[in-house]
Amino acid sequence: MAPTSALLASTKDSEQAILDAIEHQFQLDNDALLKISGQFLEDFRLGLGQYNHPMAMIPTYVTGVPNGSETGTFLALDLGGTNLRVCEVQLQGNHEFTLRQQKYRVSEALKTGEATALFDYLADSVDAFLTDNASSPTNAPADPFASGSSLDFMDSGLNSAIPLGLTFSFPVEQTALNEGKILTWTKGFSAKNAVGHDVVGLLQDAFDRKHLHVRCVALVNDTVGALLSRAYSAGDCLLGAIFGTGTNGAYLEKVENITKLGNSAARKHGGHMVVNCEWGAFNNTRTTLPTTPFDNKLDRESINPRLQAFEKFISGMYLGEITRNILLSLVDAAPHPLLFNGRASRELNQHYGLDTAVMSEIEEAWEKGRGTASGADGVEGGSAINTLGASGSEPKVNGSQPHFTHVDELSHEDQSRLERIRSVIIQRLSMDAADVSLRDAAIVRWAASLVANRAAKLSGCAVAAIMAQTGFAKLGGQHVPEEQRFVIGVDGSLIEHYPNFNARLRESVRALIGEEVEKRIELGMAKDGSGVGAALGALQATKHGL
Ligand code: GLC
Repeated sequence: MAPTSALLASTKDSEQAILDAIEHQFQLDNDALLKISGQFLEDFRLGLGQYNHPMAMIPTYVTGVPNGSETGTFLALDLGGTNLRVCEVQLQGNHEFTLRQQKYRVSEALKTGEATALFDYLADSVDAFLTDNASSPTNAPADPFASGSSLDFMDSGLNSAIPLGLTFSFPVEQTALNEGKILTWTKGFSAKNAVGHDVVGLLQDAFDRKHLHVRCVALVNDTVGALLSRAYSAGDCLLGAIFGTGTNGAYLEKVENITKLGNSAARKHGGHMVVNCEWGAFNNTRTTLPTTPFDNKLDRESINPRLQAFEKFISGMYLGEITRNILLSLVDAAPHPLLFNGRASRELNQHYGLDTAVMSEIEEAWEKGRGTASGADGVEGGSAINTLGASGSEPKVNGSQPHFTHVDELSHEDQSRLERIRSVIIQRLSMDAADVSLRDAAIVRWAASLVANRAAKLSGCAVAAIMAQTGFAKLGGQHVPEEQRFVIGVDGSLIEHYPNFNARLRESVRALIGEEVEKRIELGMAKDGSGVGAALGALQATKHGL
């Protein structure tokens, strides 16, 4: 791709060269995408065959997907996204559910302190939720913990202990649907004395310490939750994927391919099982992804250097930080600053001081003025978003850059778009207005789109690799599958809210597997995936008498 960071004709050649060099480092052509997807396939194969591979390919013991006819009421507890959530989920059959939820904040102290304090907090949150909801008119037991509670939870045959599904969005080596050791923390968590322990045991001990009549019967990753909940609402689903604070995917695999299960009963049973890839750890060996100094800086300063390498290119927790690193390099550019008169605010100087949500606002401010008013190309809950990747709506990241010498040369439309971006920068990064020109606004938007565009393209590599792994597509070639559709359930702030993330992801998938096959993807939000997915996991567990 030709370097097109000709943001401004007024930018001196040497300055232009700096921008071009940065832009060049973030480009991924189709050959690079193919190579990355190919490596994904190879890592899937290795991870299915051996334990302790960075691509963990975790057997989840979820052996089928729902079809939407399931019923029952369950508690769900969700840890691993931005908030901790406790939900009561009523599966009504007919693909419908109702959900009542309460969010709780997880402080930095809890994320990084002793695990028992974290799990006590989880139990307290469940306790608070049950207490609050006990007084509501629809669920009005005097004592929600009394046996035979009128909360109408599924009778689990466990002396009426309330069955709870736990969505735990971290790598866990599962040994059963209700058992698994924490492999490592990700996404800024580092609670002590948790790694190596059974997460269901840690939670159940906390419930028991507090005499809560609740039993954790199932453990699911958020990707598994997304897959199950999308299958429940769409009647089918092969891949659940998260593009949010972190990134990961889970898909339905033939048990015979999960060779590391050896001669275990699960393997002999055959059929299919959901596998949690933990694809955030792709490229931990640092052999495949073209890495920039801005990525290296982020990794070095993170709490888990050299881990979650792919996630650090993709997810909401990190995109703002990569962008901040680019912007600071321009503020500090020699011999003359290229941005903000060489000044940075407290936010800009602070580690993780630029939230990915600010990038999203900046890109949205730009998009709003495009006339097509595309905004965020996420979806309303539950609807399919397969049309959103239509080529007409795909922004030409480079083509949409303003070229101007003087502000007077800008069209009225471009001027007002840049004005909007400028105010976002001033407000959200607490910059002094005198230090932010329209040219600066254009550069910040350019940097944000470079980082987000790369993230979306790489996300497409993971999706295409799963389609190849399941035999639905062929990398680099046309292969029209017999099946009619490939249903994907997605969740996470990036895919839901970041402008054009979905369109850019689909463009990358199209480049990898061909347009004909890409058209068969039905990509939709897995609405309340973590809550509904945990409930569906709990339902499967109670059916198996867990
Ligand atoms: C991180 C976690 C993974 C989770 C993903 C999305 O990658 O390790 O388990 O699915 O974030 O939340």
